[in-house]
Amino acid sequence: MTDEKHSGLFDLTGRVALVTGCSRGLGQYFARALAGAGADLVVTSRDLDSLAEFEAEVKGTGCRVLPLALDVRREQSIAAMVQAAYDHYGRIDILVNNAGCNVRKSSVEISWDDWNLVLDTNLRGTFFTAREVARRMIPAGYGRIINIGSVTSVFGYAGLAPYCASRGGTRQLTMSLADEWGRYGITINCLAPGWFKTAQNAVMYEDSQWVDYLTDRIPLKRPGNPDDLDGAVVFLASESSRYVTGQTLLVDGGISTGATRALPGRD
Ligand SMILES: NC(=O)c1ccc[n+]([C@@H]2O[C@H](COP(=O)([O-])OP(=O)(O)OC[C@H]3O[C@@H](n4cnc5c(N)ncnc54)[C@H](OP(=O)(O)O)[C@@H]3O)[C@@H](O)[C@H]2O)c1
Repeated sequence: MTDEKHSGLFDLTGRVALVTGCSRGLGQYFARALAGAGADLVVTSRDLDSLAEFEAEVKGTGCRVLPLALDVRREQSIAAMVQAAYDHYGRIDILVNNAGCNVRKSSVEISWDDWNLVLDTNLRGTFFTAREVARRMIPAGYGRIINIGSVTSVFGYAGLAPYCASRGGTRQLTMSLADEWGRYGITINCLAPGWFKTAQNAVMYEDSQWVDYLTDRIPLKRPGNPDDLDGAVVFLASESSRYVTGQTLLVDGGISTGATRALPGRD
């Protein structure tokens, strides 16, 4: 990491960032980007062992990192994880609410349990993790909360009804909490990625016809690479976004700009 990258408005030196869901996928990219800007990390998974490789990688860059177990579907797990993070560092300045899941099915096939899994993880988990961290950020008078939404925070897609409902809710939740906690020096924004290939959706990218269809509808003519999100997460975590709160920042290659939303046949 060069001094140039640590300079000015984007410098996170001395900050502690908690990123949920770091065993794979976008969470690891968010954590790397924040560490690259100087932050120390708390990273989580339901399975601590699955964090070992990532922990070693990040430690190798000179960053302090604390791996913790977290299941966002369990209130006690959230409380214990946040307490352990504070016991270790004495602060959390940045929360990236990234843990999430999806069930892809025709809506008539969605079960009660499917619905609960997606909504409990993506929406209830996001709220209660934010609540637990905000209880400490409020007395500290400072915080940056980044809720990971999706292009489905603003559009619906066939075959993704519970997911879209959860991510639309994530956007509304972000606005409500921004209204409520701004007075305490906490900003809360929703970072909404478009289409990025990760474990959660890898099977879709095996269908080359669908990838061509998708690519054609993205103005920048390619699906996202996870590191395309680095700048946005550092922006929302740093002083550079100090007067930005309650917003949804779409990082989607432009797919939300026009008549690009129809991706039929995925149910
Ligand atoms: N990939 C995309 O194109 C895309 C687009 C828009 C938004 N997003 C959002 O970005 C986030 C990350 O997506 P991804 O594609 O990187 O997914 P992923 O590869 O499936 O990773 C999901 C992460 O969430 C964690 N997680 C799942 N259920 C959890 C639970 N109950 N408690 C705690 N952690 C849990 C997983 O950890 P463990 O299983 O190890 O516990 C894992 O680390 C999600 O919120 C997703 O909705 C993704």
